Amino acid sequence: MATTAEYKIGPFTYPRGWFMIADSDELEGKPLALRFFGKDLVLYRGESGRVVLMDAYCPHMKTHLAANSSSYVVHDGSHIEGDNIRCPYHAWRFGPDGICNEIPYFDGRIPAAARIKTYRAEERYGAIFTWHDPEEREPDYDLPALPQWDDPSYVRWTFDRLGVMKCHPQEIVDNIADLTHLGPVHGSTVEYYENEFRAHVAVQRQGGGHRTLVTNNAMLETGTWYTGPGVLMSRVTGLFEAMMFIAHTPVDDGVVKAWHALLVKSPSDSPTEEDVAAARAYQETSRLAFAQDFDIWTNKAPCFNVLQLPTDGPFGKARIWYSQFYRPRSEAEAILARVEGIHPVRGMPPAPEAARTAVPA
Ligand code: FES
Ligand SMILES: [Fe+2]
Repeated sequence: MATTAEYKIGPFTYPRGWFMIADSDELEGKPLALRFFGKDLVLYRGESGRVVLMDAYCPHMKTHLAANSSSYVVHDGSHIEGDNIRCPYHAWRFGPDGICNEIPYFDGRIPAAARIKTYRAEERYGAIFTWHDPEEREPDYDLPALPQWDDPSYVRWTFDRLGVMKCHPQEIVDNIADLTHLGPVHGSTVEYYENEFRAHVAVQRQGGGHRTLVTNNAMLETGTWYTGPGVLMSRVTGLFEAMMFIAHTPVDDGVVKAWHALLVKSPSDSPTEEDVAAARAYQETSRLAFAQDFDIWTNKAPCFNVLQLPTDGPFGKARIWYSQFYRPRSEAEAILARVEGIHPVRGMPPAPEAARTAVPA
């Protein structure tokens, strides 16, 4: 597997940004043992409903706080107490701030070092996100808005857990600028195409026919955008109006975990059982389309330099845009000065105005 250093993206191994780390359904019951950004982590839901993310290892003797199924702490239901988590080894208890607030066999002053590093955890759209920041600062952009989530005519998604792939995220992000794979891999006949880069957002607008997803020369139009380096949404107009969501998060250097989901507008204001079934089936079609990319990524060698043709999409520009997240924020402006704007591709009409105003919403 290839590393960030080999791609020469920037000095930070893992990019700054919002990243999905779990779907909400995974969190029911017991604390989760996770690994992201080269670190072992623990994610749990406190009894108030609050989600808490912290380093995995107890400061006492480095026990993993979540990865245990046999201690009486776990059996007796004292693993999670209120919004606290208790270590399975000697039962020290830590608050959602990571500070040890009870040691059952010691009534002296709890040592200041008895604390665990915590991270921001936000629940949105049925998923848990964290803000990863090599500079350890506050978020400098927000998660994407998704007003359709609260629109009752949309069938809410359940996530496809796509698992862990030995592929550097750079290879995945290249896809945002990849005009010429759309025909061979996905069966699209692209009639217009463009990319746009601005600030932390990278957009791809394209439309045309499709071998299987539309009939009678209808258009399948997608307006797709990254909000930061790891969260992608796509407005898809085909058989149904839908919002596709893809998240990929670094696990280790050159290894990512990914999820896919689709929010589908049903023909009725409140979806019937049939509408839900149709939405699930449509999500499966979308997942299969994404699996076509996965098939390539899991088997390809790392591409450090694209042998780019003028009629390829703007891979080089997309890579420059992406590099801003692997460098201090202070460098973002200079990086963006090289790539911001709309980039059509030679031989391909740019997006019509309607597509431009539609995405991102
Ligand atoms: S190792 Fe966690 S309480 Fe001892
Ligand atoms: Fe693709």
